[in-house]
Amino acid sequence: MRKPIIAGNWKMNKTPSEAKELVTALIPLVRDAACDVVVCTPAVDFAAVKEVIDGTNIKLGAENMHWKESGAYTGELSAAMLKECGVEYVILGHSERRQYFGETDATVNLRTLAAVAAGLTPIICVGEKKEEREAGYTDALVTYQTLTALTGLTAEQVAKVVIAYEPVWAIGTGLTATDEQANETIGVIRSAIRSVYGDAADEVRIQYGGSMNPKNVKGLMAQPEIDGGLIGGASLKAEDFSKVVLYDR
Ligand code: 13P
Repeated sequence: MRKPIIAGNWKMNKTPSEAKELVTALIPLVRDAACDVVVCTPAVDFAAVKEVIDGTNIKLGAENMHWKESGAYTGELSAAMLKECGVEYVILGHSERRQYFGETDATVNLRTLAAVAAGLTPIICVGEKKEEREAGYTDALVTYQTLTALTGLTAEQVAKVVIAYEPVWAIGTGLTATDEQANETIGVIRSAIRSVYGDAADEVRIQYGGSMNPKNVKGLMAQPEIDGGLIGGASLKAEDFSKVVLYDR
């Protein structure tokens, strides 16, 4: 049985004082969660968040990292820097990074290898654009994105990563994939992993992301292939995020 994992992706929101306020409100609300709970925050918020989540069931995540250990990469952050701040998870290859910051499947792979080598758990994002779904490319695309990101990992390492299936057309739009669509594509991703890494595919947790909220979470989480969610907008309010986390109540 895979333990569900619900993660917030705050994107470019919340200053350190706002971050502290949000997480302080969240802690008592999600204390009894049956799933793993993660907040992926801007790097400037790490210290403020870490201070209040220590000793709770909330884990800290980052939204990106560079693959090099150190060097002349102005504005970038290394895995070691994240680790020392108490970060345990890192989102890699989010569609916004692919769209606005030149992220490619090849660089997602480099980041994944570096994250795993450093002992961070990557949350690797894959997903199709609207026109790709309409053209019938979804399965081929998510298969390619997933297997490229994982290239060079062992099956044991693959078993521990998290994948987030985020159809680009469902992000921030209020449009959600139907429960069946999300389940089917996540099933495709799991089959792709099985074709190369065998039974490790049964252990990989695969989240759905894209306008997931307190109203639609139950239906999505009832699907057999869906192991959690990566939540944008609804993770910015403690009440909303806690309702997503407590989807089983
Ligand atoms: P929304 O939940 O705002 O659609 O964002 C989803 C997302 O991109 C999470 O990474």
